[in-house]
Amino acid sequence: MSLRHLISLNDVTAAELRHLFSLATDVKASPEKYRQSLAGKTLAMIFEKSSTRTRVSFEVGMYELGGHALFLSSRDIQLGRGETIGDTSKVLSRYVDIIMARTFAHATVTGLAASATVPIINGLTDDLHPCQAVTDYFTLTEVFGADLGGRKIAYVGDGNNMAHSLMLGAPKVGMDIAIARPEGYDVNPHYLALAQAAAEKAGTEIVLTEDPRAAVEGASAVYTDVWASMGQEEEAEKRRADFEGFTVDETLMAEARPEAVFLHCLPCHRGEEVSAGVADGPQSRIFDEAENRLHAQKAIMLWLLGAA
Ligand code: CP
Ligand code: NVA
Repeated sequence: MSLRHLISLNDVTAAELRHLFSLATDVKASPEKYRQSLAGKTLAMIFEKSSTRTRVSFEVGMYELGGHALFLSSRDIQLGRGETIGDTSKVLSRYVDIIMARTFAHATVTGLAASATVPIINGLTDDLHPCQAVTDYFTLTEVFGADLGGRKIAYVGDGNNMAHSLMLGAPKVGMDIAIARPEGYDVNPHYLALAQAAAEKAGTEIVLTEDPRAAVEGASAVYTDVWASMGQEEEAEKRRADFEGFTVDETLMAEARPEAVFLHCLPCHRGEEVSAGVADGPQSRIFDEAENRLHAQKAIMLWLLGAA
């Protein structure tokens, strides 16, 4: 089996995503079938940033697959004192079977992958959050059925790591995506070009607008994320002003299709990017989505390790 990583949804085919969704469905329905699937395997989890969902869902997921997970804060390993990414990757590859990393610079995760002899999973970088996007589209298959083709997802907010990952994933699941962001908070042109190439191939649409209502109109899913991501805390106040009018509230949700659901990767700030009424309302699927991180990431680990 050749070495595979999960760094970006750009590297994952539509067929591989379908495989991950059907595996996640089975893992969720019959967890006992997979209790020993990764027995004796160890996952190393490197964190440069905070986490609730990613840390707990990967650790519990590995335990429930029969394996073991190690939490490695970058502050406590030699990486934080200047040991190179390459050396860290080569050394960890001698001890563990799979590595997940959450970092600031995207180059840290690609650097790990360049030197690793075991699979690397991107657990969020400043650029991308592929595990979350896999989970989000898996969650939509639970709501709308396995074929998401022809549906539209609207992303309202910052052109950040979530926007990039959802944009790269949409063509792979046959969905159109509309992204509404204020001026100055655009998506990275590099990821836009990759997503546009994938959309052209898939025959789907990517629309960028500054009008949240136009983005949400006709959407089956409405998504938002924090206005200030990890590492941008000092900009939070300026961003609150710049994102005025971009709150996903009941009025905006009313522009979507009647069956539309609301998604958010979490953590969320009620009263900022989403109203409390939407986050906790009947269209919200945010806690199913958070739970699904566990099932989807079990599927990702089984796939990367060739165990299913
Ligand atoms: N959505 C997500 O990745 O959450 P955490 O930051 O809590 O891991
Ligand atoms: N865009 C957010 C996502 C958190 C899961 C961040 O990077 O902080």
